[in-house]
Amino acid sequence: MLTERMERLIREMPKGENHIHIEGSIPTRTALRLAKRNKIVLPFDTETGMLDYIHTHCGNLDMFMVCDRLINSVCLHEEDYYDVVYDLGEDAKRQNIIYQELHLDYPLNEERGIPMDVVMRGYEAGRKAVLKDFGVELVFIAGIDRSQPPEKCTAFVKNLEPYLDMVDGIGMDCEEISYPCILHKEAYEIAGKMGLFKTAHAGEEGDCRNIWDALNVLGCQRIDHGVRAIDDPALVRELADRKILLAMCTRSNRRLFPTPADHAIKPLMAQGVICSVSSDDPPYVGDLLWEYQGLVEDLGFDEDTLITLARNSLEYSIKGQHHLPAFDEWVRNWKSQSTD
Ligand code: ADE
Ligand code: ZN
Repeated sequence: MLTERMERLIREMPKGENHIHIEGSIPTRTALRLAKRNKIVLPFDTETGMLDYIHTHCGNLDMFMVCDRLINSVCLHEEDYYDVVYDLGEDAKRQNIIYQELHLDYPLNEERGIPMDVVMRGYEAGRKAVLKDFGVELVFIAGIDRSQPPEKCTAFVKNLEPYLDMVDGIGMDCEEISYPCILHKEAYEIAGKMGLFKTAHAGEEGDCRNIWDALNVLGCQRIDHGVRAIDDPALVRELADRKILLAMCTRSNRRLFPTPADHAIKPLMAQGVICSVSSDDPPYVGDLLWEYQGLVEDLGFDEDTLITLARNSLEYSIKGQHHLPAFDEWVRNWKSQSTD
């Protein structure tokens, strides 16, 4: 049950977030402001109108990708990309997110002819301002659009070379069915040589074969979603033994896929798989506080499990481990307060 204490824990606990896409997370207020500034006509002109539109038009991953591209079309100039990251930082601060790994899905911008440098300069300036103004540490994961031809994805990775001081990881997202991750083996080999941390969306829409391949062919150190791992006991053992983080998003899964009432996160954690939770794309599925609340209300998670998830989001992050001492101190303090 979501008691007042649980709600306070979710709100006040310092949290990391390992899986959120900048382009899919443009806040409603920001999308409308940028649309006006850039004279982009959207099929809505209020914040509730945008949310209503999303709710009626995004029932599965393919529909989501259409919506994602539509709303992202409000970004044209460097200052637009800056504003999006800055406003996301403000939202992170409100939720006591201290460390956030953001997928930057540049290919969604490239397909509209926006030069890479425009996007990257805006994002990087936003990241610096977020640290200065809100004290939130942002880390970027560059996302391959796996529905694009492999040569294009390989070129994208090579083009990250001048941005290695701002990008720490490589990821892969967009539609999963028909685009198995092995298509992009070469892109991941190059990313590995460039020193990038490797993760990939797998087992969200596709099956556990795609998770095996992400681990063993691409050499991923993390899996985004990974829900379908639950179908293969050997894979569950492998993930647990190798301490591979599943960066899960239960609210997102429920919105985009017919998910059983009991989400796989519960049995996966019970079998020793390390998980964290994230929002994925907040305007579509709700923010990180909402994600944690769902774990309590829908899956009956207790206080200690929520604390474990938040700790995992830092311990198994790309570079947020330095936040652990302060996190542990916060938890000691919290536990010393009387329970109600
Ligand atoms: N891009 C943004 N959100 C995504 C998701 N849930 N699955 C695949 N690609 C995405
Ligand atoms: Zn995602």
